[in-house]
Parts: sequence; C-alpha cells; structure tokens
Amino acid sequence: MRRTYFVLASLIAGLVVVQAAAIALGFGGLAHHVAQGGTFDKTMMESQESAFTGDIGFPIHGINGGLVIPLVAIALFAVSFFARFHHAVRWAGLVLGLVIVQVMLGYSIVDLPYAGAVHGGNALALFATALLAARAARRATPGSPRSADSEDARLSVGDATA
Ligand code: HEM
Repeated sequence: MRRTYFVLASLIAGLVVVQAAAIALGFGGLAHHVAQGGTFDKTMMESQESAFTGDIGFPIHGINGGLVIPLVAIALFAVSFFARFHHAVRWAGLVLGLVIVQVMLGYSIVDLPYAGAVHGGNALALFATALLAARAARRATPGSPRSADSEDARLSVGDATA
C-alpha cells in the first residue's frame, strides 16, 4: 500500500505539470490566433468545434483538473488509511483539500478573474505537497508505521545512550 501511495502521490504531481502545460497551450494558441487577426467570442468559447491551434489545451485542463486529479486524490486519501506510515493520512488529506480548493477556484475564474491568481499559486502548493507526500511514503520504513524521520530520531537517541 505504501508503494501505491507513492505512485498516486507522484501521479498527482505529474498531472499538475500536465495542467500547467495544457493551459499554457490553450492560452498560447488563443494569443497566436488573435495576433493573426482572428477573433474569439462567447459562441466560440462554448462551441465544441476546434477554433484555433492549441485550443485542445482547454478541454484537457478541464477534464484533467475537474475529474482525473480529483479521482486520483480521493484514491490517495482512501489508500492512506492502509499505508501505515507516519502522517500518511495527514499528507493525503492535505493533498485532497488543496485539490478541492483548486477545483472550486478553477470553476470560479470566469466569474471572479482574481481567483485565477490564487488558482495558479495553489497549484504550486498542490505540486509541492504531492511531492512531499510521495517522499514521505518512499522514506517510510517497510513493515513499520513509523516514518523514516521518526525511525532516524529513535536510532540517534539509541546512539546517544549507547
Ligand atoms: C498548474 C497551474 C495551473 C494554471 C496556470 C491554471 C490555470 C487555469 C485557468 C487560466 C483556468 C480558466 C480557463 C478555463 O476555464 O479553462 C483554469 C480553469 C480550471 N482549472 Fe486550472 N490551472 C492550473 C492548475 C490546475 C489544477 C492542478 C487543477 C485541478 C486540481 C485545475 C483545475 C481547473 C478546473 C477544474 C478549471 C475549470 C475548467 C472549466 O471551467 O472547464 N487547474 N485553470
């Protein structure tokens, strides 16, 4: 389970990178389209038709962020109860909490553009937290609910008293 935890947490970090790439692709394509004299309006925004090169980035961002990442975060949280290492549930809960906030901010951007600033920053917090969760799983001592950190602390106390 610790291995599954590690894979899921690492996967979330990787999917956040996909999110950044997808949205940059979408807005890069939009900027290019407008720079070439093209226009973009509400009808095009809501249309399922391809409007310009790179517009695929928007649906990728929406599906990955609104569905895939939340499902992986829920799976990580469920697995965390069986991973049996120090703070496994805490890290997974933090990741899931940041994902929930991120999705809520994402769906608010159109009505509240300033939410975009928090959305971008929170994505970095999510990326870092997912990596820290993966690292905690990797460093945990197999067969023990203790983390590598607490195991190290116990060993140094043993060394000091020897
Ligand atoms: C990595 C940096 C990120 C940036 C710069 C970013 C930027 C944006 C922007 C500009 C939008 C509004 C455009 C649109 O509606 O397509 C948006 C929407 C959204 N973002 Fe992100 N985002 C990032 C990461 C994430 C992550 C990690 C998640 C999920 C965990 C996420 C979930 C969403 C969702 C669900 C929407 C609404 C999509 C929709 O209305 O169809 N984003 N994001």
